[in-house]
Amino acid sequence: MARILTGIQSSGKPHLGNLLGAILPAIALSKEQHNDSFFFIADLHSLTTIKDPEIRKENIRSVAAAWIACGFNTEKNTFYRQSKVPEVCELAWILNCFTPFPMLANAHSFKDKSDKLSDVNAGLFVYPVLMAADILLYDADIVPVGKDQKQHLEMTRDLGLTFNRKFGDTFVIPEPQISDQMEIVPGIDGKKMSKSYGNILDIFQSDKKLRKNIMSIQTDSLALEDPKDPSTCNVFKLFELLGSDEEVQALRKAYLGGNYGYGHAKQELFELVVRKFTKERSTYEELIAHPELLEKMLCAGEIKASKIARSVLARVKHKIGF
Ligand code: ADP
Ligand code: TRP
Repeated sequence: MARILTGIQSSGKPHLGNLLGAILPAIALSKEQHNDSFFFIADLHSLTTIKDPEIRKENIRSVAAAWIACGFNTEKNTFYRQSKVPEVCELAWILNCFTPFPMLANAHSFKDKSDKLSDVNAGLFVYPVLMAADILLYDADIVPVGKDQKQHLEMTRDLGLTFNRKFGDTFVIPEPQISDQMEIVPGIDGKKMSKSYGNILDIFQSDKKLRKNIMSIQTDSLALEDPKDPSTCNVFKLFELLGSDEEVQALRKAYLGGNYGYGHAKQELFELVVRKFTKERSTYEELIAHPELLEKMLCAGEIKASKIARSVLARVKHKIGF
């Protein structure tokens, strides 16, 4: 049996990149019979950027609803809010005291922002240590994440191995699982889709808004009659990630043949998204309308998670003489 663990920050509404790059592959793994999955909402991590209490609550609900809508089984597995198992903060503090300063100063998550240090809070600086605590606290074997999290996983392994060498076997050392097929989902402007770039495709909005969202994907300005290059088109790239081989080949042919406009392609992408995510979109809507259902699932998961967190933390504290 392998323990799979992953978290998604509640820093906004989950987008197609989060779904394809993280949520759906993790759920597929959780469905394998021998896996025991711990999926959580990294709401403490999102405090490094989100300060508004109402936005925080809303984001936590939408991330939770997205996991469930995409088919995560909370009875077989463990589903929880990071902040509801406060042992993670205690472990993070312990790990902080074993983390060399230069390791954190080298983290991309910090370095990318270090040209404007006045914007960096201490939480952002120690972000990778909290992430290591998230993983080590639950004896996770496998951590499915997007490519951008690779360095954080290396730090987690490093911290776990160093601790084990010093105090004897304490932590399970996790393996990252990085899907290369779904490395980077492009946003509506062609850059990596990300909440922070304002270029997301939100599949959970109403048909009308979703259609508008898709119609705003950037394309070049070739005329309707011109043949078009699928390999450089954002609409095509997104379609390719979702469509069947047959559907993708048909669209490729239409692009190369000319007399086929980007408006047509966007309409096809819209219809594909609606078709492909019919069930997920309706479950999401239902859960957002009934937050008490989410609350119930999360509370049950938090009881399960706390039990393990307490026992691993006790193991660690014993080793270091508390
Ligand atoms: P964002 O960049 O929108 O803030 P997060 O950092 O919260 O996204 O990422 C949550 C998870 O989704 C991570 O595992 C990350 O690797 C994955 N992910 C985010 N954006 C993409 C993308 N454009 N393509 C593939 N995976 C992504
Ligand atoms: N840092 C991750 C992200 O931004 C979210 C995260 C927090 C996480 N703790 C984790 C992912 C533990 C995997 C395991 O995507």
